[in-house]
Amino acid sequence: MSSTRMARFHTLEVEEVHQETPDCIVVGFKVPPAEQTDFAFQHGQYLTLKLTVNGEELRRSYSICSSPLDKEHLRIAVKKVANGRASTQLVDKLKAGMRIEVMTPMGSFTTALDPAKARNFVAFAAGSGITPILSILKTVLRTEPKSTFTLFYGNTDVDRIIFRQRLEELKAQCGGRLSVHHILTKGVDEDRLFNGRITSEKAVELLKRFVADRNDNQYFICGPEQMMVNVSEALEKEGVEKKRIHIELFNTPVSTEAKKEVEHAHSAAGAFNGVADVKVILDGREHELKIPARGDAVLDAALDGGLDVPYACKGAVCCTCKARVVEGQVEMEMNYALTDDEVADGYVLTCQTHPRSARVVIDYDQH
Ligand SMILES: Cc1cc2nc3c(=O)[nH]c(=O)nc-3n(C[C@H](O)[C@H](O)[C@H](O)COP(=O)(O)OP(=O)(O)OC[C@H]3O[C@@H](n4cnc5c(N)ncnc54)[C@H](O)[C@@H]3O)c2cc1C
Ligand code: FES
Repeated sequence: MSSTRMARFHTLEVEEVHQETPDCIVVGFKVPPAEQTDFAFQHGQYLTLKLTVNGEELRRSYSICSSPLDKEHLRIAVKKVANGRASTQLVDKLKAGMRIEVMTPMGSFTTALDPAKARNFVAFAAGSGITPILSILKTVLRTEPKSTFTLFYGNTDVDRIIFRQRLEELKAQCGGRLSVHHILTKGVDEDRLFNGRITSEKAVELLKRFVADRNDNQYFICGPEQMMVNVSEALEKEGVEKKRIHIELFNTPVSTEAKKEVEHAHSAAGAFNGVADVKVILDGREHELKIPARGDAVLDAALDGGLDVPYACKGAVCCTCKARVVEGQVEMEMNYALTDDEVADGYVLTCQTHPRSARVVIDYDQH
């Protein structure tokens, strides 16, 4: 999904903080009426927070768990990760009334909805990966009254299931259109399919047992990297087309499969090795930069040049730094966030982009 709205930080007041599980909070923000258009979002998108932790500025993305149909609500869920700087500070210290810098919504983990359609949505979530899925699920069930939603949701144990209660309520409200299957690492269910991690074999079995195979099914996957790799493998085995599979990563992958992708990208390097003249269009203004082909990425060069370009993860997963190449050749080192269609349309993650021609024009206003 692409738009021309400029990503911007706004200072928002925290309206409420709710302890969802022992290590996860749900945070609601107060959005003043004048800023509501800036914070309009699509189901599945995320917010980026700017925090200072021990004197260090950190930017971290958190998926929105509310639905765009719940007009007055803008909520995220933050789960503490072991030794996590931002997540620990947020879960331990954030209180209602505090003010925090929040970037306008971004992300392409979404799909167009159509009230006339009757189709199956299938999601695999684990841990905090439920956050964007909850937004998608609520929006789908209300927008497409003839569609169904099947959720496979992995957690360690019952106490750590984020939104357990909310999912039960939604199930009760939707008259059989939502089914939720919990798979617990420490589970003791009689049916072993619901115990343990979501492996590729388990995902195939879950699909065979609970999902009618139809070629208009939409699949969403969000959770730890290994689960995403396993489920993607299972869907591939089942012959599901890539364009019907939506994936959201929460951190830069470390698996061998992901590394292969990086090596491949490097080997595709073009011939240009000089210093490129790069025009950056940002907020309607043009800036000229000189960027060596074998040096910093466009994003870092632009930041060094004093430009307030948007970014969060700097690791090819969040797409906050997305922009469009309107002239010249470039190369991305890694990409876990943009779809094939977006890449074909000239969109790049500027934190991963290097010039590969003497002249390049990059437009941040088309993102
Ligand atoms: C698009 C997007 C959406 C996201 N949505 C959510 C969300 O809805 N809820 C949520 O809680 N988080 C979400 N995240 C993850 C979040 O942005 C942070 O990465 C996470 O809170 C950890 O940050 P930290 O500063 O606490 O950890 P750091 O101090 O950066 O890292 C500490 C340690 O934890 C590891 N680590 C970092 N991130 C993760 C992770 N996600 N899981 C496990 N280990 C990790 C690191 O490798 C490191 O060893 C999302 C990330 C992206 C890119
Ligand atoms: S800053 Fe996250 S993909 Fe570039």
